[in-house]
Amino acid sequence: MASVARSGREHDNPAAAPGISISGVCHEYRPANGRPVLALDDISLEVKDREFVSILGPSGCGKSTLLYLMGGFMPLQQGEIIVAGKTVTGPGPDRGVVFQNFALFPWKSVRDNILYGLEKQGLPREERLEIAQHYIDMVHLSGFEDSYPSQLSGGMKQRVAIARTLAIKPDTLLMDEPFGALDAQTRSLMQEELIAIWNRSPTTVVFVTHDVREAVLLADRVAVMTARPGRLKEIVETKFADAPHDEIVKSPEFLDKVDYTWNLVRAEAVAADAEKAG
Ligand SMILES: Nc1ncnc2c1ncn2[C@@H]1O[C@H](COP(=O)(O)OP(=O)(O)O)[C@@H](O)[C@H]1O
Ligand SMILES: [Mg+2]
Repeated sequence: MASVARSGREHDNPAAAPGISISGVCHEYRPANGRPVLALDDISLEVKDREFVSILGPSGCGKSTLLYLMGGFMPLQQGEIIVAGKTVTGPGPDRGVVFQNFALFPWKSVRDNILYGLEKQGLPREERLEIAQHYIDMVHLSGFEDSYPSQLSGGMKQRVAIARTLAIKPDTLLMDEPFGALDAQTRSLMQEELIAIWNRSPTTVVFVTHDVREAVLLADRVAVMTARPGRLKEIVETKFADAPHDEIVKSPEFLDKVDYTWNLVRAEAVAADAEKAG
C-alpha cells in the first residue's frame, strides 16, 4: 500500500535536498479597499527531512499565511520555498494540507470524502475502501462512515479532514491548528496518533499552533514568530526522550521548555495586543 500511495515520488529528483527550505519570504496583503498589511517579513527557515517543526506565535502573526505559501495556495511575492527539492509554484499532492477550517464536501459521506483523495491514485476500489476504513478507525469515526458533514460536530468534521489528508500519505504534511476544534481528550488522542503515524512513515511535518504546550510536546523544534509583521524570533529545540506523552508532560525538561517558550510567546502576544489597542 505504501509503495503505491507514494507514487508521486517518481517525479522527484533523488539528488535534490529533501525537507523544506524557506528563504527570504515576505508577504504583503493588498486589499482592494484598505491599507496594505505586511504579514510576513523576511522569513527563512530550514526544515530537515522527516523533521516535525511547529510554528508558534500570537494570533495574526502570519502563521497561516506562511503555511498557505508552503502549500502553494497563494503566489509568492518575495523569496523562495523549496519542498523536497522542488520550488513551490502551486498546490500539489506531495503536500497534504489540513486547514484550520478545512471544508469537507457537504454532499459526500464521511467515507466518500476520504475516498475522494484516493481516487486520483489509481488504486483498485477494494484497496481504496480498505485504506479509507483504516483512517476512519484511526480517527475514531467508526460507525459514522455514511454520515454527512452536516450531521457531525465540529471536532468530528476536523477528524474527517485529518483522515482524508493522512490517507493519501503525503511526503510533506502541513497542518494549520488542526486540533483547535477538538475537546481536550480527543485532542490528546489525536496528538498521540499523529506522532504514531509520524514514527511509522517518513513525513516532514510543519504544524502551526498557538498552543505552547502542544507545540513543545509534538515538535522536534519550535519556530517562534514575532507579532506582525511575522519574523522568526527564535527556534527552540524540543526533542525529548522517546516516551509516552503522559510521561513526557510530567518531566522537568518538558515543563522547563514550556515555560521558556511561553515567555517568548507572551512577549509577542503583549506586543500584538498593544498594536491592536494603539
Ligand atoms: N486576505 C487578507 N487580506 C488582508 N489582510 C489579511 C488577509 N489574510 C490575513 N491578513 C492579515 O495578515 C496577518 C496574518 O494573518 P494570518 O496569517 O492569518 O495570521 P495567523 O494565522 O498567525 O493568525 C493578520 O494581521 C491578518 O489580519
Ligand atoms: Mg491562522
